[in-house]
Amino acid sequence: MSVNAAFRIDMMTQQDIPDLREIVTAWVRKDGRPIADEIERTMAILRAAAKGNGDVYLVARDADGKPVGVMGCGSPDDRFLPFRSSPEARAAGLKTAFLSPDIRGRGLGKQLLEALFAGAREAGWTEMLWSSNPRYRTTAWSFYTILAGDPVGILEDFFEPGSRTPVWRKDL
Ligand SMILES: CC(C)(COP(=O)(O)OP(=O)(O)OC[C@H]1O[C@@H](n2cnc3c(N)ncnc32)[C@H](O)[C@@H]1OP(=O)(O)O)[C@@H](O)C(=O)NCCC(=O)NCCS
Repeated sequence: MSVNAAFRIDMMTQQDIPDLREIVTAWVRKDGRPIADEIERTMAILRAAAKGNGDVYLVARDADGKPVGVMGCGSPDDRFLPFRSSPEARAAGLKTAFLSPDIRGRGLGKQLLEALFAGAREAGWTEMLWSSNPRYRTTAWSFYTILAGDPVGILEDFFEPGSRTPVWRKDL
C-alpha cells in the first residue's frame, strides 16, 4: 500500500508501539492532561493487535518509516450490534484512529481510513461500525460523516454515563 512520496501505509508492527504511544498520548487528554488509564487501555489494544490477534491495524509512516498515524478495527463491542445493517452482516468495529497533530488536514486520515476499509473487507468483514468520544466532536466527527455518511444512530452511555454519541456505519 502507498499514499504518496511523503507517506506510506502498511501493517502495524510491535516496533511501532513506542511512537504510537506518543501519538495516543497527544490526544487522550482531559483539560490538557493525559488520561493515564485510558492511554494504557489503548496501548494494550495496540500491543495485542501487533502480536496478531486478528484485528486489522494499519500505520501511516513518513519517509523515514516513523509512524505518524494509526487506525485499526476488530470485533465490535456488543453494544454496536443493533446498528448492523442486518443480523447477517459481518460487522467490524473501528477501535482506534489517531494522527500526529502536525500531520492532520493533508488528506492522510482519509487515505488511512480508506485503506482500513479495504483491509477489513479483505479480512472478511462486510461493514464497519463505530462511535467517537465527545472529546473528539470537533476533531473527528465531521471527518467521519464525510467518509461514511450521516450517522445511523445514537449510542447512549457508551463513553460515560449520560454520553450520547453518533454511530457511523460503512459498507465495505
Ligand atoms: C480525525 C483525523 C484522523 C482525520 O485525519 P485528517 O488527515 O486530519 O483528515 P483529512 O485531511 O484526510 O480530511 C478528509 C476530509 O475530512 C475533512 N475533515 C477532517 N477533519 C475535519 C474536522 N475536524 N472538521 C471538519 N472537517 C474535517 C477534511 O476537510 C476533508 O474533507 P474533503 O474530503 O471534503 O476535502 C485526524 O484529524 C486526527 O487524528 N484527529 C485528532 C484525533 C481524533 O479526533 N481521533 C478520532 C478519535 S475517535
